[in-house]
Amino acid sequence: MDKIVVKGGKKLSGTVRVSGAKNSALPIMAACLLGSEKSVLEGVPNLRDVQTMCRLLRVIGARVIFENDRLEITPFSKMKPVAPYHLVSTMRASVCVLGPLLARLGSAQVSLPGGCVIGARPIDLHLKGLQALGAQIQISHGDVYAGTKGKLQGKEIYLGGAFGSSVLATANVMMAATLAHGVTLIENAASEPEVVDLADFLNKMGAKIEGHGSHLIKIQGVRKLHGANHTIIPDRIEAGTFMVAAAITKGDVTVQNCEPEHLNALIDKLQQAGVSVKRSKGSVRVSRKGRLKPIDVTALPYPGFPTDLQAQIMALMAVTPGISVITEKIYPDRFMHVSELNRMGCRIFLEGSSAIVNGVQKISGAPVMASDLRASAALVLAGLAGEGETHVSRIYHLDRGYERIEEKLSSLGADIRRAKE
Ligand code: EPU
Repeated sequence: MDKIVVKGGKKLSGTVRVSGAKNSALPIMAACLLGSEKSVLEGVPNLRDVQTMCRLLRVIGARVIFENDRLEITPFSKMKPVAPYHLVSTMRASVCVLGPLLARLGSAQVSLPGGCVIGARPIDLHLKGLQALGAQIQISHGDVYAGTKGKLQGKEIYLGGAFGSSVLATANVMMAATLAHGVTLIENAASEPEVVDLADFLNKMGAKIEGHGSHLIKIQGVRKLHGANHTIIPDRIEAGTFMVAAAITKGDVTVQNCEPEHLNALIDKLQQAGVSVKRSKGSVRVSRKGRLKPIDVTALPYPGFPTDLQAQIMALMAVTPGISVITEKIYPDRFMHVSELNRMGCRIFLEGSSAIVNGVQKISGAPVMASDLRASAALVLAGLAGEGETHVSRIYHLDRGYERIEEKLSSLGADIRRAKE
């Protein structure tokens, strides 16, 4: 097993290029199953989760060729509509094949994803939306069996849950509705940029989707979808992680290949904290000279502050003297990084779904353990600011969502390396 070893204290400077968005690529890869021909995706990040989705598509029945950042997916005329447990259990986003398989083949068997370290993560909204389109759903022995007699039927669907909208439920229902008979309206749809990217791709395949990016998406079903070419949008979470890295090291970093508009909530919070952020077309420059100010942050659905950057901003506030309050409204238990940050000398206390961060002047490197993808990123960031060496173990989590992070950070001047445990 690999670990990351970071020696803190280096100011980062220079330019770093962001990869394509994992959370766009995964549902778009699943959407390729809806087409009868080859689709070509560019800007696909080479990540463990992307490799898992490649394996899943091959198991279902598609020719998948992944070279550099280019992915060709050609669905076979005969597919096996099954997503087995050994793949779903390593990556929850496997559930994205449910909508496409149901729409294209009229049936799907997808293993039920279990809980995960960041929270309960049910899929009731996915199932509610597909049932509204006419699917019959049964859960038995840990698998979801979905089937339909004839075509799915367009419907008006309210897709809201206790925590608001759902990104992948919106994706699943939108994909299924592309081949349904008639019009589907998804109310309370997620408006995340990754949902917009998926809708743009589906429209290139011949779908008729309007309103993506708002909370009301209209889908006019069509008979058939073809293959399409598409470039995945830049990863706003990877970009945000490098922006925080610049701020936490008192650095000066230009983050290239990003969409500043997708980063407004983070930019606003960094500026409030006293970090300088300059936007240009396709890039942002983040620099910090003086002291930081504590800030309060609440993770919310887009365009609010992203939950996938909550751990990283907490690492920054942990080394900012004063009290910051960080609240999670998406995954109330997504705080696995807190106890590890505290091992490094941070002073963070949990109160329900809020973390009270009592920022300190200095933290020290320590052996810490990654528990999930974004928590791992927060520990690496803390390591960049800590005195001495931080050893982050279990970094297979990090490899699920960050492409060559140690190479990218070291190109900015960080003292960071990958080592064997
Ligand atoms: N929820 C339900 N029922 C459902 C679906 C979701 O109650 O059927 C709840 C969840 O438990 C959560 C909230 O709704 O409290 C929002 O979850 P959402 O469904 O939006 O999450 P997701 O679609 O499963 C995607 C990303 C996550 C990201 C969330 C929120 C992918 C592959 N995953 O998950 O990314 O945190 O949206 O933005 O797109 C990550 O990249 O580290 C990651 C976890």
